[in-house]
Amino acid sequence: MEIFTMTLEDLEQMKNTLYSDFDNFWSYNVLKQELENPNTTYIIAKENNEVLGFAGISVCLDEATLNNIVVKKSHRNRGIGGELLESLIELCSELHMKSFTLEVNVENEVAIHLYEKFGFKNLGIRKKYYNNSHDAFIMTKYDL
Ligand SMILES: CC(C)(COP(=O)(O)OP(=O)(O)OC[C@H]1O[C@@H](n2cnc3c(N)ncnc32)[C@H](O)[C@@H]1OP(=O)(O)O)[C@@H](O)C(=O)NCCC(=O)NCCS
Repeated sequence: MEIFTMTLEDLEQMKNTLYSDFDNFWSYNVLKQELENPNTTYIIAKENNEVLGFAGISVCLDEATLNNIVVKKSHRNRGIGGELLESLIELCSELHMKSFTLEVNVENEVAIHLYEKFGFKNLGIRKKYYNNSHDAFIMTKYDL
């Protein structure tokens, strides 16, 4: 498996399987806008020309925000999310970011485990952040 910068061609390849194989948060149109935004960078994990996961950050001055990280449902719990996150942390380091922040649903135990494993600390909570019901932890990593 290798990590690459995500292109529009990669997105086109995933277009019809985004909801079924990955997740229901991000539509094709939103991801397309993300790829066209000069302040965001998306990466993909690929094996034998199959996209197994993708993740993206946006950058504002010296602060990075995780916009998205998702692994194909059939390939979760095999370390791919960890590799994507590690690559984004390396990217933040190369870009001389001072902080890397994300929001995560307080009930998303897998993601929270992953973020803690890579040194993100829970700095606060946004009440009713998701669909006006679930709370979100705000987690940040400073040692980049
Ligand atoms: C979050 C996500 C990207 C993780 O990707 P992944 O490839 O499965 O992650 P990894 O295999 O690298 O790591 C998963 C870790 O969670 C652990 N884990 C698995 N089930 C768990 C559970 N129920 N509770 C706590 N930890 C759990 C695994 O043991 C592993 O940790 P380890 O490396 O210390 O053993 C993936 O689950 C996903 O796409 N989820 C849907 C989208 C999403 O929720 N994104 C996050 C939005 S903030």
